Amino acid sequence: MANYKIHETDVLVIGAGGAGLRAAIESAALGMKTAMVMKSLLGKAHTVMAEGGAAAAMANADPRDSWKVHFRDTMKGGKMLNNYRMAELHAKEAPDRINELEEWGAVFDRTPDGLIMQRNFGGHTYPRLAHVGDRTGLEMIRVLQDKAVHMPMDIFMECTVTHLFKNGDAIVGALAYTRDTGEFHLFQAKSVVLATGGGGKAFTVTSNSWEYTGDGQSLAWQAGADLLDMEFVQFHPTGMVWPLSIRGALVTEGVRGEGGILTNNKGERFMFNYIPDAFKNDVAATDTEANQWVREVITGKQATVRRPPELLTRDVVARAIVNEVREGRGSSHGGVFLDIATQRTADEIKRKLPSMYHQFIKLANVDITKEPMEIGPTAHYMMGGVLVHPETQMSTVKGLFAAGEVGAGLHGANRLGGNSLSDLVVFGKRAGAGAADYVKQTKPSAKVSEHDVDAAIAENLSTFDHKSGENPYALHKELQEMMNTYVGIMRKEEDLKKALVELDAFEKRSANLSVVGTRVYNPGWHLAMDLRNMLITSRAITMAALERKESRGGHARSDYQGYDPNYAKVNLAIKNANRQMVVEQIPRSPLPDELKNLVEEA
Ligand code: FUM
Repeated sequence: MANYKIHETDVLVIGAGGAGLRAAIESAALGMKTAMVMKSLLGKAHTVMAEGGAAAAMANADPRDSWKVHFRDTMKGGKMLNNYRMAELHAKEAPDRINELEEWGAVFDRTPDGLIMQRNFGGHTYPRLAHVGDRTGLEMIRVLQDKAVHMPMDIFMECTVTHLFKNGDAIVGALAYTRDTGEFHLFQAKSVVLATGGGGKAFTVTSNSWEYTGDGQSLAWQAGADLLDMEFVQFHPTGMVWPLSIRGALVTEGVRGEGGILTNNKGERFMFNYIPDAFKNDVAATDTEANQWVREVITGKQATVRRPPELLTRDVVARAIVNEVREGRGSSHGGVFLDIATQRTADEIKRKLPSMYHQFIKLANVDITKEPMEIGPTAHYMMGGVLVHPETQMSTVKGLFAAGEVGAGLHGANRLGGNSLSDLVVFGKRAGAGAADYVKQTKPSAKVSEHDVDAAIAENLSTFDHKSGENPYALHKELQEMMNTYVGIMRKEEDLKKALVELDAFEKRSANLSVVGTRVYNPGWHLAMDLRNMLITSRAITMAALERKESRGGHARSDYQGYDPNYAKVNLAIKNANRQMVVEQIPRSPLPDELKNLVEEA
């Protein structure tokens, strides 16, 4: 029998970003014995990479806003593939969750009347993002973390979950290891909430840090849960492109929300050339109109004209940048220019975008109050993930819940910036409540089979037995390059098929990964385990991308340009059929009339 420590809990939350923290707080508040395990340190989460704000229709900066407009914007941004009930719940509940954060100590920026300040972001009709300069995610994490550590719960830092266990058809626990000692931990849990974020690390250029290897999506699929919408990957239009060592680091959309403009190497403001028909009524058609919008917004007035085209949705802006570069109008390092210096004063820039100012001065030696930034798209977010019930967040496996980026449904084909932070708190709370309710109602046992634990530990340790096998770093690099090349912003059948062939080969090679040294703080060994998840997630993305023969939101095909109305009727699920990945079309249920009317008004 293998050696491991055993912990027992009612609710096990995996991940401690915004969604995990909010779920754990709710579960503990409902009297559940709660444990939270996290791959990294408490407070170190991709949540902090949502810098510009949390979207909630509080109508503080523009009284015309309401949950109905927020719902409509979210559906339109998601190209109507969103789970409409999740979009409705999100739009209705986000203001309460933001006010709750304020009650718990979040110090948001203020309007002159002392209300929570809200800023503009792409695809949002009105200024809707409650923010703290350009450090909103960080402030949310600070507050949620402070709340969580004052509640009865067990916290396991630098503890990575590698396997979920079931008894029959229900979840009963998880296996994890600690990064520093390499010790194994068995969590016997009556329910599990996945809050592990996304999987950007399968791509070369990404805003994600090392933790984001698609763990939750892969664990859920291996446990038999369905994944949804995996073809939709969001490339944030503005990542740093230079210096190379930090290529992909996020440049907040808040820069464009504060009036920043995009230009090419000819000095042209090119976004006017990329306004899709569906958005023609929403955005300014001329420089004059766009500049008027900025002047009105800066002076705190309600905008009377349409917003600048730089505030189109992220899928549109990212593809426009790719096209400018491809046609030879890019910057010397393969990006375009983002200019706030000519739009706002140096004082305003330092006050509204302090992190961006420091990030560029320190990392690129660029003073953004005087010079433009060089930027390009960066893999930022997965709209797809675990298929969940909209009210409870339970997956298709009993007792397994998912919230935040690892869950699917709210964002459809494309997420609006700022909707992620409100998603975390709205559905984090719901997942915590859903898990607690499941435990109370069904009184599940948490009996993990010893045989399953031994097999999982043996699988984790197998890389130490392969003396001359593959190097995990080399395989990871090849996977990232392959995903960027074949499954990146622009896709086509031939490339996607090549990607699947490559994935087959990577999978074979991954069975022979070899690591040296011991289990004590061994990053090569950790990466070898992460690679299992990246390969599964990458295959799910690729298979769904091959199946969706159209271009919609975060999935663009050069061989099937534009929408196909047949694909508007289905979401794609990735199922586990005897350990084989299969794609299935799930017909969408029609919107109830009152919601349909809201969308049709647009
Ligand atoms: O650009 C940003 O600040 C990112 C926000 C988000 O992804 O929601």
